[in-house]
This record gives sequence, structure tokens and C-alpha cells, in this order.
Amino acid sequence: ARPVKLAPSLLSCDFTRMADDLQAIGDADWAHVDVMDGAFVPNISFGMPILAAARRASPLFMDVHLMIEAPERYLKDFAAAGADGLTVHVESTPHIHRAVQMIRELGKKAGVTLNPGTPLEAIKPVLADVDLVLIMSVNPGFGGQKFIPQSLDRIRTVRHWLDDLGSPAELQVDGGVTPQNARAVVHAGASCLVAGSAVFGADGPRAGLERFREALK
Ligand code: DX5
Ligand code: ZN
Repeated sequence: ARPVKLAPSLLSCDFTRMADDLQAIGDADWAHVDVMDGAFVPNISFGMPILAAARRASPLFMDVHLMIEAPERYLKDFAAAGADGLTVHVESTPHIHRAVQMIRELGKKAGVTLNPGTPLEAIKPVLADVDLVLIMSVNPGFGGQKFIPQSLDRIRTVRHWLDDLGSPAELQVDGGVTPQNARAVVHAGASCLVAGSAVFGADGPRAGLERFREALK
């Protein structure tokens, strides 16, 4: 089996010490960057300048999760600010296919995602065109929420779809992922785990990451 990627979410890092926290997660696979606009989700996080700062401080793959309305407006800016991958929500635009094409034309990895209440069929039309599918396992907007158990079935279904297509796309899972449920999430078919509070909480990101590695051994 291919190794599972770990993508700590910078939403839960200490913004006054972002460079230190990025260094502490230096042996993670990706850095997950949660952009929220206070319209698509009921919270505001940060935008291009913070991504650009993270980019300057770390060589990690910057995996940018756009929780913003009409993301087409900003794809170019996030690419210029240092995104390596850009993931867009099907609910955030009537033109998901165009958004995915725009990301590819920018030369970045294209991801598609959907909220827990959105039927999985919504991603089918672009499934063959994406490098990543993100299954949200909480309602996006905040770190530290509880994993929604029905997400496991959704992960299994998309795993089958990707396998049927012969697609090498990453199957990422985001929200409430912990060392306690990581094995079940991977067993359902995930290839990449996002974790915010479970990495940066308690005794620091190095210990947090180590607990995931142990759980996935
Ligand atoms: C939720 C964000 C997540 C969040 C995960 O809206 O998309 O990436 O940071 O945080 P945890 O791991 O604490 O649920
Ligand atoms: Zn996220």
C-alpha cells in the first residue's frame, strides 16, 4: 500500500510563530492552508499574504483549501502567493468544471471537495479531471469539531469510483481526524489526512505528528 500523506492544518498553528510551527511539521507531507471568507463559511481565517508568508518559511507542498464564494476570482492570486494545490468546493461556484480547468491551466494540482450534506454525485462530472478529492468530515468553518461518522461511507464510495476510473488522485479527508480514528479513515480508502487540532493541540506539533505516525504503523 502507498504511504499515507499527513497534512497538518495551519488553521490551528500559532500565528505569532508560524515559521517555528512550519519547521516543527517539516517532516509532514503537506501543509494544509484553510482559506475562509465569512460568506461561504461562517468564519474568516486568512488569505494570500499569510499563504505567501508560509511559502517563504517552508518548502512544504502548500495544499490550499478554498472555502470562499466564487473561487475563480482568486485562483490566480493564490497560485502567485505560493499554492502548489488548490481545492475548490462544488457548492461555491456554478462552474466547478471551469474552476478545475483554471487551476490546471495555472499549472497547479486541482482538487475538488464538498460539504457533508452535499450528494457525492456532485463531484462525478469532474472526477477524471482532478488530482485530489477532499471528503469533508465536518461542516467547514472551524477547527476542533467532531468527525461525522457517515463520512466513512462517503470515503468508501469515492475510493471505489477512483479505483474504477484507474485514477491516481489523492483521496483526502478533513475534519475531526485524530490518531484514534486515523486507521479507520485510511481503511475506508483515504490516502491523505488533514489534521489541525490533533496536530497542534496539547503538547505541540512534533508530538502530535508522531502520534499519527504511531497510529498508522
Ligand atoms: C475545517 C477546515 C479544516 C480544519 C480541521 O473547516 O477545513 O482543515 O482546520 O481542523 P481539525 O483537524 O481540528 O478538525
Ligand atoms: Zn481544510
